[in-house]
Amino acid sequence: MKALFLAGGMGTRLKPLTDDLPKPMVPMMAKPLMERNMLKLKDCGVDEIILSTSYKPQKIKDYFGDGAKLGLKIHYVCEDIPLGTGGAIKNTQEFFDDTFIIFNADILSNINIIDMLKFHKEKRASVTIAVTRVENPSQYGVIEYNEDLYAESFTEKPKPSEIKSNYINAGIYIFEPNVLKEIPGSKVVSIERETYPLLLEKGYPIAVYKSKEYWMDIGTIEKYRQAHQDILNGSYPLPEHGENSKGTFVAPNAKIHSTARITAPVYIGENASIQAYATIGPNTIIGNGCTVGINCKITNSIVWDKINIHNSTDVSGVILNTQILNGKKRSNAEHEVKKGKALSPIA
Ligand code: GDD
Ligand code: MG
Repeated sequence: MKALFLAGGMGTRLKPLTDDLPKPMVPMMAKPLMERNMLKLKDCGVDEIILSTSYKPQKIKDYFGDGAKLGLKIHYVCEDIPLGTGGAIKNTQEFFDDTFIIFNADILSNINIIDMLKFHKEKRASVTIAVTRVENPSQYGVIEYNEDLYAESFTEKPKPSEIKSNYINAGIYIFEPNVLKEIPGSKVVSIERETYPLLLEKGYPIAVYKSKEYWMDIGTIEKYRQAHQDILNGSYPLPEHGENSKGTFVAPNAKIHSTARITAPVYIGENASIQAYATIGPNTIIGNGCTVGINCKITNSIVWDKINIHNSTDVSGVILNTQILNGKKRSNAEHEVKKGKALSPIA
């Protein structure tokens, strides 16, 4: 089965994390968010993935290549000028001749895709959209539906007076390829604002798959932090967690000095080295290949991969990433970690 990832957005609201990295590549517990989603889809029977890219596509290609390392076949389609969500789907039309899945690449979710596929067939739908309940729908696409679970209206980013439901488009769709003919080619199209209302008007059945599973759009720094917190709290178990770990994970090959103090919940990645008298946690992620020096204290923080934290650094509540330290944002990062001492990435 094939799945399309919409991965071309600029990730503006996630800046500066997306200054040098497309949003789907931001690490979520030491693995790119999109890799976590790809592996979930693989478990549901997906073997071929089409990546619709536009912003910094090379970063994505360099990491995933042809997909062989993940046991997947990956194709890339790149838009020189972003075509919008609908235009991006149309632009990949040639790949699809059977039922396929579409995923907004900035979602972290436990939505049960196998169950959703079954529901799609039962409903004989042309499109099925996963929906989830949120307290404030204003940043999302609100969907109204009837008692038979077919969509009746779409309101994208509603004003407070327009909010008629708390169920929103969760950014996961199942499509029948025949609907693609309804999207105009070679132009900017919004699937949410233009195509879905048009499909309704033309009488295509659009089913709504309601899910109570964990769901989060990683669109802002606040949501990015929240998702990590949710994982640490056990709301979104990772495969490496196994059973009963309650969101805490220390990679078996991480080197933790016997005098270091680790306070759960934490995530300590592959080949990380935690040196003498360092304190890690609570609520802290140390990425793969990081070194945390002697006597450091790192709490409530997210540290990306391969970062070397010098001895006696004391930081709390920060996101440490290589771009910030390497690039033009260096001064901001230094400002951010002023409480600590020198801090530098491993080249
Ligand atoms: N290829 C391509 N080209 N991808 C795009 C483009 C484009 O022009 N524009 C956006 N994308 C990708 C983004 O990278 C992201 O993965 C996905 O499409 C959705 O775009 P966002 O910019 O994140 O949209 P949003 O979060 O404001 O709203 C969308 O997602 C919500 C759920 O998270 C809408 O689908 C809402 O209706 C929905 O509720
Ligand atoms: Mg989004």
